[in-house]
Amino acid sequence: MRYPPIVKNMPHILHGGDYNPEQWIKWKDTIWKEDMRLAKLAGINTLTVGIFSWTALEPEEGQYNFSWLDELMDMFAENGVAAIVGTPSGARPAWMSRKYPEVLRVNESRVRNVHGERHNHCLSSPVYREKTMAINERLARRYKDHPALAVWHVSNEYSGECHCPLCQVKFRAYLKNRYKTLDALNEAWWASFWSAAITDWDQIESPGSPGNGGHNGLKLDWRRFTTEQFVDSYLNETAPLKEITPDIPCTTNLMAGYTGIDYVRFAEVLDVVSWDSYPQWTSAEGNSEIGLRTSYCHDLMRGLKRKPFMLMESCPSATNWRPVAKLHRPGIHKLQSLHALAHGADTVQYFQFRKSRGGPEQHHGAVVDHYGGENTRVFREIADLGERLKGLDDLVGMDTPAEAALIHDYQTRWAIEDVNGLLQEKTGYGETLIEHYRAFWKRGIPLDIIDSRQSLEKYRLVIAPMLYLLREGAAERIDAFVQSGGIFVATYATGYVDENALAFLGGFPGPLRKTLGIWCEEIDALYPGETNTVEWEGKSYRAFDLCELIHEEGAQVLGVYGGDFYAGTPALTVHRRGKGRAYFLAARTGRDFRDDFYRWLAAEAGIRPRFEELPEGVSVQVRGDGEEEAVFLMNFTNEKKQVQAGPGKAGIDLEPFEVKILQS
Ligand code: GLA
Ligand code: ZN
Repeated sequence: MRYPPIVKNMPHILHGGDYNPEQWIKWKDTIWKEDMRLAKLAGINTLTVGIFSWTALEPEEGQYNFSWLDELMDMFAENGVAAIVGTPSGARPAWMSRKYPEVLRVNESRVRNVHGERHNHCLSSPVYREKTMAINERLARRYKDHPALAVWHVSNEYSGECHCPLCQVKFRAYLKNRYKTLDALNEAWWASFWSAAITDWDQIESPGSPGNGGHNGLKLDWRRFTTEQFVDSYLNETAPLKEITPDIPCTTNLMAGYTGIDYVRFAEVLDVVSWDSYPQWTSAEGNSEIGLRTSYCHDLMRGLKRKPFMLMESCPSATNWRPVAKLHRPGIHKLQSLHALAHGADTVQYFQFRKSRGGPEQHHGAVVDHYGGENTRVFREIADLGERLKGLDDLVGMDTPAEAALIHDYQTRWAIEDVNGLLQEKTGYGETLIEHYRAFWKRGIPLDIIDSRQSLEKYRLVIAPMLYLLREGAAERIDAFVQSGGIFVATYATGYVDENALAFLGGFPGPLRKTLGIWCEEIDALYPGETNTVEWEGKSYRAFDLCELIHEEGAQVLGVYGGDFYAGTPALTVHRRGKGRAYFLAARTGRDFRDDFYRWLAAEAGIRPRFEELPEGVSVQVRGDGEEEAVFLMNFTNEKKQVQAGPGKAGIDLEPFEVKILQS
């Protein structure tokens, strides 16, 4: 499968980044011209402008000034630079907050923010909505036929919440629409507990502290509502863009580590997913670990639409917001950029092109330093990469084929992170997923990361660790997948609650009980340092944290607990159902177990890694369109490595941090 390029008629890897030329308007005759020269030298073919330019574009209410952007867009077109035009809503002008205080965000303690910084607005405010729409409409009309216009980048890194009176009204309307009656709402929230029942819609308050830390049902719905707020605000912003420039793709930059928005829902309204990746290279965790975690993030973001995405921001050198502003070691820049391509990115973009002279981000890594010229180590590495990217047109639009998938579900995550019980805040949904992912990553077996609403048909193997909350239809989809020949893996803490976080009555794992052929009677949480064992295939593996006590109901027992009062009871089972099999792992185990188990299971599922064994710290990813393919071999370590290509074939050498792309 090959997808069309993100920018029509531009079948190249996009290379560029955030550019803030309004900071240099006074010096435009020299700096802007120099920027074009440097961009060309660095092999840059796209720049993102306008993201935080509201005050430059509308210095006073209703008085617009587009002349500087006109000039810039023309300059881009003359220099072959595609413009990713940001809508400026991420940071508002002071005149707006002063005249219309309703645009300012209110925190959970119901205190209104003061004006300043960015991402500080109420998305419900009619004024904010009207003003963003108005400026976007003007941008679209002005540049609709401009040859440089390539992509709309809406706002910036949506996040946070607003608890103002306008948002309370919208929240109540959202709930009314969802539940129709107060009776249904009270039941969904189990509001008979602690006298939480609502007798008038107006009594509903968003969760906030102190005082309303939150009923789990209320909290879940608040997060769903917050997601809808961002979706709605995005749609409000894109309405004029879509109407006036229907062929220009729209996106907003996501953050893989952010869990306050259900990104799978959000991605439904994006034309293309884009995200900002800032791996903490050369930290105590080690680059191989950072490589693994960043791979996971890329796959999570790609999975939102299961098609190529944009690496909207990355840092070519040190960030300014970490406690330690470590430089990227030589070679890291190329590695992190090609790494994104390996996982499905069709762009390599940076924050930022030119360092600002002042302000909070003046020391954040950039293509062009305060020094100002091309004679820097960082610039040379970027220009080298730019050269390399020019030879990679073939990758554009290529799929990232995967035969196995891992289910990550934002709403399950919200629900389990709210649970009082298990290991409280250390229950570790996100980390558990990374641990399951690890067993595949280190063998170079690609995984898609999807959520429980997405279709499972194309996979041989689907793994869903800790699928605590089961959405409407999820169990049915999983069961159909198994019946038709799929291999499914579930673990402890699965199928406890429904979409409203109400416990399934009649035995866990609720509607997955018949698929898995087991009943989970209890779950034991272990103190730090306490262990049990899982006995499987003649080996004894460490079990810790969470051990579920289960009974087989049609499933075959493969492994048992070795200790405690539940010694000898099932810890690993398989249920043959239809043409497929459903495995259940009852305990949290160490990496040794997952390595052995998934090695065995992948073989059972007929999934073969590209190379039989990979050296530690080397990862393999494949992009392909069914005919051509590109195999990426990435060395995340600072040592030479060799990959054995198979019997009779020469080994493939990798220098420290080297990426080799084998195209065929
Ligand atoms: C985020 C923002 C950028 C910038 C960078 C700095 O990703 O989107 O505007 O602040 O962080 O790393
Ligand atoms: Zn608000």
